Amino acid sequence: MKYFLPVLLALGFSTEVPLAVAQPAPSAAKAKNTAFKPGELWYDTDGNLINAHGGGVLLVGNTYYWYGEKRAQHQEEGVNVYSSKDLYNWKYEGVALAPATDAQSDIAAGCLMERPKVIFNQKTGKYVMWFHLELKGQGYKAARAAVAVADQPTGPFRYASSFRPNGNMSRDMGLYVDDDGAAYHIYSSRENYDLRLTRLSDDYLTATPQDSLLFAKHREAPALFKQGSKYYLITSGCTGWAPNEASLHVADKLFGPWQLLGDPMSGPNAKLTFGGQSTYVLPVPGKKDAFIFMADRWNPKDLKDSRYLWLPVQFKNNQPAIDWMEQWDLEHFSKQL
Ligand code: DGJ
Repeated sequence: MKYFLPVLLALGFSTEVPLAVAQPAPSAAKAKNTAFKPGELWYDTDGNLINAHGGGVLLVGNTYYWYGEKRAQHQEEGVNVYSSKDLYNWKYEGVALAPATDAQSDIAAGCLMERPKVIFNQKTGKYVMWFHLELKGQGYKAARAAVAVADQPTGPFRYASSFRPNGNMSRDMGLYVDDDGAAYHIYSSRENYDLRLTRLSDDYLTATPQDSLLFAKHREAPALFKQGSKYYLITSGCTGWAPNEASLHVADKLFGPWQLLGDPMSGPNAKLTFGGQSTYVLPVPGKKDAFIFMADRWNPKDLKDSRYLWLPVQFKNNQPAIDWMEQWDLEHFSKQL
C-alpha cells in the first residue's frame, strides 16, 4: 500500500476517504423483504443468496430456523442454517453440520446430505437433525437415514449415526412431531417405490420397530402436516431433479389408511408443481389453519441456484389447495374465509 498511496494522492484521491471503501454499492437485494416472491432470487440479510435447499423450518420461541442443503454448483457442502423473526428476512447463522475432513467418516466430504430436517426433543433438551445420507463415491446406493445432535438450534450439530431404518432403504425423507410429542420419520424406500413411516425413539435418535408401508406409489419428497384432526401428505413423483405432478393424500391416523385426494396445485405450470418439488409444510403459529408449502425449483446445472417456492396452503371445500402466486404476504392468512 505504501507504494500506491503517493500515486493515489497524485491522482487527487483524498486520504480522508478510507482506501478500503472499494466495496460494491449496497444492492437493492439488501432491502428488507416484506413479501414472498416464489421462484425469485432470495437474499439473506448480508445480501448473499440463501443456500438452504431441500430444507425445513423449526420454530424456537419467536425465532424461525431454516435448515437446508448447502450446495456449490453440484457438490454438497453440508447443512446451512438461517434465522428469522418474520419469515421474509433471514440471517445466515452458518453451517450447522459440515461434511467431515476424516475420509473414513460416513459424512466424509463428497457424501450427499440431502433434505435435512431438525426437531427439538423436550425430554432431552437436544436439537435433533435427520437427513438423507449417501456415502461418498457411491451415488445413491447407500440409501441411509442419518442423525446429528446439537445443544443449540444453530449447532454445531454432532454427527451421531446413519442406518437403514429397520433395514429399509431410506432416501427422500421428512420428520413430523405429533401433538403428543411422538416423532416420525417418513421416507422413500425400496428404490423409492414405497413410502414408509417409522416412529422415532423417545430421544428421537433412532427408529423404532413401529415402521410400516403407507403406500407403494413410487413417490418422494414427502411433506406431512396436520390440520384439525386430519393428516395431510404432499409428495412428488420420482423424476430426478426434473419437476413432476404433486399429489395430496389424507388420513385420520398417521399409519393410515391414506387416501389419495389428487393434485392440490393450480395455476400456470401446476401439473409440474410450478417447476418445483415439495420439501416441507410449515405451520404458521398464531394464525388459524395457516400453512406454508415449501418447495425447491431445482437447477441441476447449478444446484446452489435452485430457487425456493413458498406458497400459502388454502383450504377450499375443507381440503388443502395451493394456487400459484407471484407475490404474497402473511396477511393472506387473515383474509382467508
Ligand atoms: C429427487 C430428490 O427428491 C432430491 O432430493 C434428489 O435426491 C434428486 N432426486 C437427485 O436426483
